[in-house]
Amino acid sequence: MTNRKPLIAGNWKMNNTVSEAVVLAQEISNGFEKDWAELVDVCVCPPSVDLKAVRGVFLFDHTKVAVGAQNVYFEPKGAFTGEISVDMLVEIGCEYCIIGHSERRELFGETNEGVNLKAKALIAGHVKPIVCVGESLAVRDEGTYLDFVRAQVRAAFAGIGAAEAADAVVAYEPIWAIGTGRTATPEQAEEVCAAIRATLAELFGEEVAEGMRVLYGGSMNEGNAALLLAMPDIDGGLIGGASLKAVSFLDIVKAAL
Ligand code: G3P
Repeated sequence: MTNRKPLIAGNWKMNNTVSEAVVLAQEISNGFEKDWAELVDVCVCPPSVDLKAVRGVFLFDHTKVAVGAQNVYFEPKGAFTGEISVDMLVEIGCEYCIIGHSERRELFGETNEGVNLKAKALIAGHVKPIVCVGESLAVRDEGTYLDFVRAQVRAAFAGIGAAEAADAVVAYEPIWAIGTGRTATPEQAEEVCAAIRATLAELFGEEVAEGMRVLYGGSMNEGNAALLLAMPDIDGGLIGGASLKAVSFLDIVKAAL
């Protein structure tokens, strides 16, 4: 962990109807200690249909947990059936938005170019992008994973200036660790997160890169979070399965304090 304020974000993926989401949000709110907000930023990213209700729980309780979306379209409005705009997220009160998640890249054809357009649109709307990057097991085994991830970072931030990028977040999520229980070791995660930060420094300069948060995601849980978060270039986690249980998610938050 470093002097950057850590961020623990829960990616609920396609889980929780509105009624289930409100229950989980209330459990998180009930267990969230007010003074934690000074030490760690916490965000939950429910399905878009749940965003307003989840935000309502945190607002009603004055709980300083942010909400984020799991995807967005880069056009401001128009004939894009099924899509959601940045302005719609802003109006709901989203502070963050995940983009480029490997599941969207693999299942829904998300491209580096699309991630870049979404990053630009989110930054313009003052919503912090959480840019997901990460290699497959095949790329890891080939040993080209650092170059692969560096290329993803460069593509995501193409044409974006240092001042614009300063609040953006990058999440390293090795595909082979997502949902598998096969968590990257702290050393493996640190190696890639350090390479991501070095790439950000090439793009934006040392000062901005040192201030940007790089998260790890991929089977992070309450049992391994502390060791991962102790690494110098890991500034938090993007949590899938373990974010669906309030106790587990809050234990990961505590590990970041
Ligand atoms: O975006 C976070 C997610 O991909 C990680 O999932 O279940 O391995 O924590 P999980």
